[in-house]
Amino acid sequence: MEEENSIKEENTLNINLGQQLWTRAKEIIPGGNMLLSKRSEMFLPEQWPAYYSRADGCQVWDLNGRKFHDLSIMGIGTNLLGYGDTEVDAAVTKAVSSGNMSSLNCPEEVFLAEKLIAMHPWAEMVKLARTGGEANAIAIRIARAATGRETVAICGYHGWHDWYLATNLQDESQLSQHLLPGLKPNGVPKDLRNTVKAFSYNSLEELEKISEEYDLAAVKMEVQRSELPKKGFLEGIRKLCSDKGIALIFDECTSGFRETFGGLHKKYKVEPDMAIFGKALGNGYAITAVIGKRELMESAQNTFISSTFWTERIGPSAALKTLEVMEREKSWERVTHIGKYIKNNWIQIARTHNIKLNISGLSALACFSIESPNSLKYKTLITQEMLKRDFLASNSCYVCTKHNKDILETYFQNLDLIFKMISNCENGYPIDNLLEGPVCHETFKRLN
Ligand SMILES: Cc1ncc(COP(=O)(O)O)c(C=O)c1O
Repeated sequence: MEEENSIKEENTLNINLGQQLWTRAKEIIPGGNMLLSKRSEMFLPEQWPAYYSRADGCQVWDLNGRKFHDLSIMGIGTNLLGYGDTEVDAAVTKAVSSGNMSSLNCPEEVFLAEKLIAMHPWAEMVKLARTGGEANAIAIRIARAATGRETVAICGYHGWHDWYLATNLQDESQLSQHLLPGLKPNGVPKDLRNTVKAFSYNSLEELEKISEEYDLAAVKMEVQRSELPKKGFLEGIRKLCSDKGIALIFDECTSGFRETFGGLHKKYKVEPDMAIFGKALGNGYAITAVIGKRELMESAQNTFISSTFWTERIGPSAALKTLEVMEREKSWERVTHIGKYIKNNWIQIARTHNIKLNISGLSALACFSIESPNSLKYKTLITQEMLKRDFLASNSCYVCTKHNKDILETYFQNLDLIFKMISNCENGYPIDNLLEGPVCHETFKRLN
């Protein structure tokens, strides 16, 4: 039995142990895992290493013990200081050895709340959670409870919960512009139709129209994802919300800590009524936060928001140490600098090979797509070829402070070779001759 459960040491047979386990996983875990973005099919179906045995800095070891440089999603943006940051891990180890749970509360949650408020002086109160989706649900509940209104306008990705997926009850294209197209709202009560309205980024007009038709409780949005905000866009939203008594909520789960010490809204000098942090806050440990103005946050008391594991000690301990290291190292400057360097090199390599590249995203969350009908096949080819060269890499790079020059230079040299292959394909060589497996998925697809 024990042997059945263990991952066999078959390295010498050259079997991809990760794919072997992934096949097992898909039999008993719907979709194979718990997060769409970490499915093998999103990168390189049938070939991706799928599982890690160890992670350190920006290196990841797969189940075969093979080492890769991670120039891909870095834990999907969680590990801005790299994997296994020694100081953060020491704080976590201390939390574990002094008892991670008890019948009393952990003091670290108060210290973390104080720290987040000190970093965002417009905010006066805090609620902590452990996932971004939960934090988003908390913020929406508070906004609805505080305003006594129901409808919410959204712009961006805000998690998997009913309140958000309800956007697609109107029709399944509503969320198409907001990171994940094609999400099916099956299982979401039909009565939630029209409780959420999506508006396009940089279209104040669309939001104004929604706010004329509906009595909005909240505007929930990402400050910036792929496009830069047009002049006056964020300010216009702030004014509209203030004029109409709508709670403005910035979802900074992904944008937070990438360009400022805290929310990206600090850069644009537009203050929301509530903000949400997640991902990088605990450098890989589960901790998320909703911060907000007292008059809104107090409404959490007039409804019911409560959960057992929101009280454990690892999350806040990790976050406190992460914030300390970030502040000392000014990590947001460093990841932005590295991200700009990556974007510039992508542009140069593409130019050399006459490839049309679209680049988007914050510098620390840089992303490119190749302008071609074969774009998805090229993305697959890049992942396939990079993997052979010991890199986890696709078409986006979540930067961490451990991405050093040596690693990046090797990455660019390899990318140059692959872009040359792509250039040949653009000039007529059949891309299908180069692909060694199926093409990656573009977005959510049911896995059989
Ligand atoms: C802006 C934003 N909000 C919310 C979420 C959901 O967070 P989680 O996956 O931790 O539930 C994400 C995750 O990618 C996100 O990018």
